Amino acid sequence: MKIIVTGGAGFIGGNFVHYMVEKYPDYEIVCLDKLTYAGNLETLEPVMDKPGFKFVKGDIADREFVYKLFEDEKPDIIVNFAAESHVDRSISDPGIFLQTNIIGTGVLLDACREYGIKRYHQVSTDEVYGDLPLDRPDLFFTETTPLHTSSPYSASKASADLLVLAYHRTFKLPVTISRCSNNYGPYHFPEKLIPLMIANCLNDKPLPVYGKGENVRDWLYVIDHCRAIDMIIHDGKVGEVYNIGGHNERTNLQVVETIIDALGKSRDLIQYVTDRPGHDMRYAIDPTKIHDELGWEPTTKFDDGIKQTIEWYLNNKSWWEKIISGEYQNYYDKMYKDR
Ligand code: NAD
Ligand code: DAU
Repeated sequence: MKIIVTGGAGFIGGNFVHYMVEKYPDYEIVCLDKLTYAGNLETLEPVMDKPGFKFVKGDIADREFVYKLFEDEKPDIIVNFAAESHVDRSISDPGIFLQTNIIGTGVLLDACREYGIKRYHQVSTDEVYGDLPLDRPDLFFTETTPLHTSSPYSASKASADLLVLAYHRTFKLPVTISRCSNNYGPYHFPEKLIPLMIANCLNDKPLPVYGKGENVRDWLYVIDHCRAIDMIIHDGKVGEVYNIGGHNERTNLQVVETIIDALGKSRDLIQYVTDRPGHDMRYAIDPTKIHDELGWEPTTKFDDGIKQTIEWYLNNKSWWEKIISGEYQNYYDKMYKDR
């Protein structure tokens, strides 16, 4: 079996590559990544020398390059993680989100048609469903919840999902889609809530909480997401969408306070800042379908996963300190200075 994993030098793709290389030593895994600001070859260091693993630098939206790769590699399965993934960046600069997330997905789908594959899997997000109100804790996203996006990021991901489903219906391409809630764990780029708060806490810097910190996210440990995708590409039904989430809802403030307490810092570090425009209030996944059809369920509870994650950031300072000492500083100033 040969799998092309796009975006494998990023957070979830990197964890997925580690997971697959370990679990299926006889598979060939080809990681295709453009190495944008979010891609990091150091994330792939543990697997770089493994037999059956190969890294290729390239852009999923570059048709000529992608076709050549398919011709050379003749993959059985494509798992597409490659994306611009940060909502705040999509608000300040939407264009690249349309290019990578929509056009890039279209190029991959065309290559799949041209060269033939056993499965194309699209890694999507719960954000395509929009948000839920805080005063209706009884409501959850199911696979039939209408798409109703809020940010350029989520609109680009929903567009990609529609393309994937259209290629299934029109061209009978064997596709699956997963829509997962917020992930956390090792190798998470420190622009996102949890790693940003851990890094700032460790550096005794202010912790910028948007609005009142009351927005709710449904947190899933990244390896539980990887296990779900593994199950879907092997046993999932073609043409189907699977929601992935572990009923681990927390307000942002609860998450930040958990990190502060775990690191023994002062809650005075919290700084309430101007809210994100169009900020989604609550995400909450109903994972009944993937549980009933494929037997998936999360194995890591938030309280354990967050401890493991903090531990990882403490033990792998060089990974994230390198990131935050570079171009990231300009991003941080632009995003947070005088906010
Ligand atoms: P990330 O930003 O950490 O990584 C994205 C990776 O894609 C990077 O390595 C980057 O270099 C690569 N990339 C970007 N543009 C590319 C292009 N044009 N061609 C090739 N490679 C390119 O993202 P992540 O958080 O790991 O998310 C991965 C996927 O999972 C995304 O599709 C995202 O929408 C989805 N997702 C993320 C979460 C989450 O909580 N992080 C939850 C659900 C779904
Ligand atoms: O739900 C899945 C999505 O989760 C993925 O599709 C996205 O790729 C991923 O980035 C994530 O999106 P969010 O916008 O939920 O994640 P983020 O870490 O950016 O923010 C989480 C919450 O924390 C959100 O309500 C905004 C808030 N926040 C974020 C940052 C970076 C803050 O209060 N302060 C911050 O500095």
